[in-house]
Amino acid sequence: MKKATVGRIERLEYSTNEALNTICSNLTFAGRNLKKIVLTSCTAGEGKSFLTLQIAQNLAKRGKKICLVDADLRRSFLVKRYDITTEGEWVGLAHYLAGYNKLEDVIYRTNLYDICLIPIGRDVANPVPLLDSPDFSAMLDRLAEEFDLVLVDAPPVGLVIDAAEIASVCDGAIFVIEYNKTRRREIQDAHHQIEQTGCRVLGCIINKVRFDTISAKKYYNKSYYSHYNSEYYRKDSGSDGKRKKP
Ligand SMILES: Nc1ncnc2c1ncn2[C@@H]1O[C@H](COP(=O)(O)OP(=O)(O)OP(=O)(O)O)[C@@H](O)[C@H]1O
Ligand SMILES: [Mg+2]
Repeated sequence: MKKATVGRIERLEYSTNEALNTICSNLTFAGRNLKKIVLTSCTAGEGKSFLTLQIAQNLAKRGKKICLVDADLRRSFLVKRYDITTEGEWVGLAHYLAGYNKLEDVIYRTNLYDICLIPIGRDVANPVPLLDSPDFSAMLDRLAEEFDLVLVDAPPVGLVIDAAEIASVCDGAIFVIEYNKTRRREIQDAHHQIEQTGCRVLGCIINKVRFDTISAKKYYNKSYYSHYNSEYYRKDSGSDGKRKKP
């Protein structure tokens, strides 16, 4: 299998990491038959690609064999943003679906916990016929046999039909909703659109929550979690060997 190197790895805040642990634990217990999961959203920039990669890392750290499929064929930034490099030229989903390459040729094993990646390879102006082809669903089925989980990064539902096409051949969908941005009506429409494809909507992730602007701050920062950072929990805090009170 070809190799790829992820050059940029994001460091997460404590609260983000905790939230991700919860999401990934829920995903692990969601059911044995849920192997092909698509992440989508109503509009662009809500955090689908970021979360797909984070979920992939979190589960791979737990020993799961993960394949990440970049199916945002119109304009994916994944490879560029995370400075992912490989020897030679990229070939990817677009090449496979257009019949230029075999599936084996377009799977890259990364240095990031051995997560496997299928990049887009190249932009496609109209990916609907490719995503609608039996090759795409056959590809996901093959990956589901080989991997514990196949995570598919999709474009937003609201703008193009691609996400619905992708969802129609996945076992479950996760909605990424940017806090304080997406309207309820948009979410309802997108939810309806995905459900109509027959794909089970597993739930949503409220992303980019600013804890300093909402009452959750009380819970996360002031009461419980702050104790982890407080003097009280530093072993060397008192000259008498006792821990100082917060
Ligand atoms: N929870 C988060 N914490 C910090 N940064 C985030 C978070 N979620 C998203 N981002 C940042 O927000 C920006 C947009 O995220 P991302 O590209 O993942 O969105 P997207 O939904 O995939 O967008 P598109 O629809 O264009 O593909 C990126 O710079 C990403 O690093
Ligand atoms: Mg994206």
